[in-house]
Amino acid sequence: MNYEEFKERVRAESDIVDVIGRYVDLKRSGANYKGLCPFHNEKTPSFFVMQDGQFYYCHGCHKGGDVFKFLCDYNHLDFPDAVRELAESAGIEIPEKFDYGDSGRIKAGLKNRLRDMYKAAAEFYFSNLHSEEGKEALEYLKKRGITKNTMVAFGLGYATGEGTALYKVLKDKGYNDEELKESGLFSYKSGKPRDIFTDRIMFPIMNRSSKVIAFGGRVMWDRLPKYINSPETIIYSKKNNLYGVQRAVAARKERMILVEGYMDVISMHQTGYPETVASLGTALTKEQADIIAKMARKVYLIYDADSAGTQAMRRAIPLLREAGAFVNVVSMKPFKDPDEMIRSEGADGVEVRIRNSDNALVFELECEEAEYDRNDPSENAGFEMKAAEMIAGLNDKFQRREFVKTVSERFGIDRELLAAEVNRIGDDALRQGGIIKRTKAPPAGRVNSANAKGRDVDTGHADERNVLLALVRDPGIFPVVKEFVSPEDFSSGILQEVADIVFDKINNGGTIQEGEIISRFDDEEQSDVGRIFCNDMYDNSDAGTKARFASESLKNMVIRRHDEKCENAPPEELAQLLKKKNELSNLIININPD
Ligand code: GTP
Ligand code: MN
Repeated sequence: MNYEEFKERVRAESDIVDVIGRYVDLKRSGANYKGLCPFHNEKTPSFFVMQDGQFYYCHGCHKGGDVFKFLCDYNHLDFPDAVRELAESAGIEIPEKFDYGDSGRIKAGLKNRLRDMYKAAAEFYFSNLHSEEGKEALEYLKKRGITKNTMVAFGLGYATGEGTALYKVLKDKGYNDEELKESGLFSYKSGKPRDIFTDRIMFPIMNRSSKVIAFGGRVMWDRLPKYINSPETIIYSKKNNLYGVQRAVAARKERMILVEGYMDVISMHQTGYPETVASLGTALTKEQADIIAKMARKVYLIYDADSAGTQAMRRAIPLLREAGAFVNVVSMKPFKDPDEMIRSEGADGVEVRIRNSDNALVFELECEEAEYDRNDPSENAGFEMKAAEMIAGLNDKFQRREFVKTVSERFGIDRELLAAEVNRIGDDALRQGGIIKRTKAPPAGRVNSANAKGRDVDTGHADERNVLLALVRDPGIFPVVKEFVSPEDFSSGILQEVADIVFDKINNGGTIQEGEIISRFDDEEQSDVGRIFCNDMYDNSDAGTKARFASESLKNMVIRRHDEKCENAPPEELAQLLKKKNELSNLIININPD
């Protein structure tokens, strides 16, 4: 079977409503389904899933595409992995080798092998933990209060002291040298391959769909380095993953909790906070902040109560804020970290501390305050100025107003003065064009503005999109449409390409599936194409309204094309063209509802 055939078979057996329904609460809306968009924060649903067309589209953030695209975006997978995952969930056997045709795709094969290898490694480590050799490790985990259930839930394991144990296991399973090397699980420094993890407690790192993609390994004694992590590979990029995310996704809570360490995640989950995740041994990245903010708008930071923890929070806060999250900082004092706090205060302690947590801005200001001597008048003024700047930096005016109130009370700053200063800074920024970018009114008539690729469907092309939509939904109107326009009459690259496909399909009597059309376009273009086909109002209208919609749009399109001709016409042809224009304005296009 070639890859193309396999992919189409997977598509045919993965209903998009069913697949997206696993992640998003979908409600029927006439002919379609809608729900809260998982790609941006919203309170009223603008995310539509079309069963007939097998595609989705969000009117709020304009993301859209077919079932594969959804999985790629939602689970941060790349294309072959999305196909693989859907194949698995549809129970379709994945061929060991495809005739890919081009060598680039061979990577997908190697990825599959690496995934399998990591799974086998996790199973091996897991069984070690429960064997004679793993006794001490098991004892260590128990001493730290981790239950058997939790160990299983996180797939915790043990790498024995023997330097080539894993190598032998994987070799026996038939992995070749190239694959073993690519896995990053072995060191070749001495010339011979050796396991990178020996005598360590193993923490499998999983992606959102619970596939093991990396490991962290902790020593059990006071030895350095405390942790080592497996390197980045073709299946693992640190910046796009989070520890504990697979369980946080499943828990679907309305808030997220971010902690620093693997052990913190584990004890938080065990205590009843499955919404907890951690970055992977490095500072939080922008990508991780985006993932977290998409999972829930409210984010609580519970970092270690030391200066490293404070610094890490100060770096994380702006990233999360930028990603659209509302951030609070939870204090662990006098404990070192959440793990310790939980052992002393238990689940209730966490909840109380969350309830008493500070808004991130207040936390940031407290950090700032420590830098000033507020008994000194000029330093105090400096601090107050700093407070005004930080509030002015918030990008919504209701928040700014709220924070003027909170901050003035909390830090003893005159409220009116603070408000005035916040406004002044905002006005200055406005004048310099810093905050508000003037939006240009779109020019009338045909718009040729285009993005870098010379493609644009955003402005002025509503009629063309409408005609394409009507054609795809009701191919019966094709004979009438064909009489008035052809694909060349559509403006931008994308619209013209879509028109080409649609005209071609109908001409050849093929069935049209919007999702399939969308999937022919590049990643960035899929949303634009999705937008053409997503019109809930149209889908939920009666036949007569649809016919009027189609004929009006077609007529406008024809008139606009004619106007262009007039603009560029030599004077001697103008009279004739204007006469035609008059005729066109009286044109009645008769599209009969069937
Ligand atoms: P415990 O000390 O057992 O409570 O573990 P922890 O997971 O809470 O670790 P800690 O708070 O010391 O560090 C937070 C995170 O930073 C860890 O989970 C690791 O991801 C990472 N980290 C800590 N120490 C090291 C190290 O020596 N090397 C590397 N690469 N990462 C580390
Ligand atoms: Mn810790």
